[in-house]
Order: sequence, then structure tokens, then C-alpha cells
Amino acid sequence: MKHTVETFKKAKLNHEKLAMLTAYDYSTARIMDEAGLPAILVGDSLGNVMLGYENTLSVTMEDMIHHGVAVTRGVKNALVVIDMPFMSYQASVYDAVTNAGRLIKETQAGAVKLEGGKEILPQIEAIVLAGIPVMGHLGLTPQSVNAFGGFKVQGKSEAAARKLIDDAKQLEEAGAFSIVLECIPAKLAERISKSITIPTIGIGAGAGCDGQVLVYQDLVGMYSDFVPKFVKKFADVGSIMKEAFAAYVSEVQEGLFPGPEHQYSISDDVLEKLYGMGDKTNADNE
Ligand code: KIV
Repeated sequence: MKHTVETFKKAKLNHEKLAMLTAYDYSTARIMDEAGLPAILVGDSLGNVMLGYENTLSVTMEDMIHHGVAVTRGVKNALVVIDMPFMSYQASVYDAVTNAGRLIKETQAGAVKLEGGKEILPQIEAIVLAGIPVMGHLGLTPQSVNAFGGFKVQGKSEAAARKLIDDAKQLEEAGAFSIVLECIPAKLAERISKSITIPTIGIGAGAGCDGQVLVYQDLVGMYSDFVPKFVKKFADVGSIMKEAFAAYVSEVQEGLFPGPEHQYSISDDVLEKLYGMGDKTNADNE
């Protein structure tokens, strides 16, 4: 079944939880799609987990398009949402619509995601008017890390919590089809989720959200630079990869790999013509 923004609407109506993960390449996106994920996010977290930056601020439109195209090639059914990178939408409505359009045109993603509340309502309204579905993102919005003074839980004071509640309502009114809530207290996220008619997708925002999203390297234990409290490691693929890489190194060093079953043969006749000698073992391997 092909998933679209309609999947999000129906899930909220029917109280069905939505599961979303990030992906940044063809092979992983394909596995996720086959696993039945309804939505995949090409997150600008690719700056951290794919490119090794300390934050997402250096991620460019070209980075997003490069990874976005690879993801959509691997996906048949999931709705692919793609992040608008830092400074691709903040400066003007014109930038926002032009860059959102470019992301959709060049990657074939189904929706874009923007970070921020009231400050970017004109941008969200204009992108929606252009026919592009928008996912909002509130709470710990990593593109504002310098303004926050670090990666900290948001919405803890009354004023900050009120702003989040208000922003969520305004994003809904501006036409967003869903909102990511990142790193905010669980009870606040639950209240926000109940106060709007579009689904909230939580990351570090508790079980009261309408869905959840995680960075996939966190979920499978492939990124250890920084592991937030809200991450659950569903598998330790990082350790399995490390063991496999180490085993490969020793087999190569010991001459155990490649074995006869990994090699291609050539007929003795050809060898004879080349070097004037045959190789019995080649014939055995054909
Ligand atoms: O970039 C990203 O991966 C995100 C998620 C953390 C929601 O925005």
C-alpha cells in the first residue's frame, strides 16, 4: 500500500500509532520499506551520522538532494519526507518555496520538513499553497542549537510550554499535515497531541505522541558519538559490523579469503595459449 499524507490523517482519526525512521541511502531505505514503515525521513541529521559534523548547520541543499534521491529510489510504499536544511527557508518566503520545490522536484520525496514555530508561518503557508505537504518540527530544533546554547530539553518553563502549545496550533492552522515534537516533557507532548487534529511524531517526547521517529543508526547501535536518553537500541549492528570487519582483516591477512568458491576460472586451453602451461585446479573449479 502506497503511503501518503492521507495515511497520517487516517492514523490520527483511528488512533493508530505511526512509526517513522530516518534513512539516507538506497539500501537502508529499501530494507525499511520492505519492513513496512509507513514513513521515512531523509533527516538533516545526515550531517551527524553520515558526514560526521558536530551539528546539522553545515548541511546543504546538495547534501539533502544527494541522499534524498538515493532514498526515494529504494522506496515503493513509504511516504518520504525530506528536511529543508539550515538557511534554505529562514531568510524569506521566496527561498522557502523555491527550495522546497527543488527538493521535491529533484528527489521525488512526498513532503518537506521545516524546523520552527510562529517565526516561519509565512513560509509554511506558502509551501502548502504551492501544493507541497509540510511536516513541522517543534521543541529541540537542532538547527537552532546555538540559540538554545546546546542540545537541551525544551518546554520546561510555563512560558516555553505555552509557546510550544501555541506554535503547534498555528502550524496546524498554516496547513502542516503533521508535527515532530523533539525532546520535550512527555506530559506536555501528550497535551499538545490531544489539542490538535494532525498527528504528532515524537522523538524524546514520550508515549503520548501519535507516532515516533528515531535516527536509524541510534536504533541499530551504529552511532556512538552521542546517544541521547530517549534512544532504545533495538539491535547492536555496530558491534556485529565491527566483528565482521575484524574477521575480514584476519582472513585476508591469513590468506583464508578469498577461498576457491569466491574465484573465477579460466580454461586450461586459454592458459596454455598464454603461457604454454595449463592449470589443473582451474578446470576443477568450473
Ligand atoms: O534530522 C532528523 O533526523 C530529524 C529527526 C531527529 C526528527 O529531524
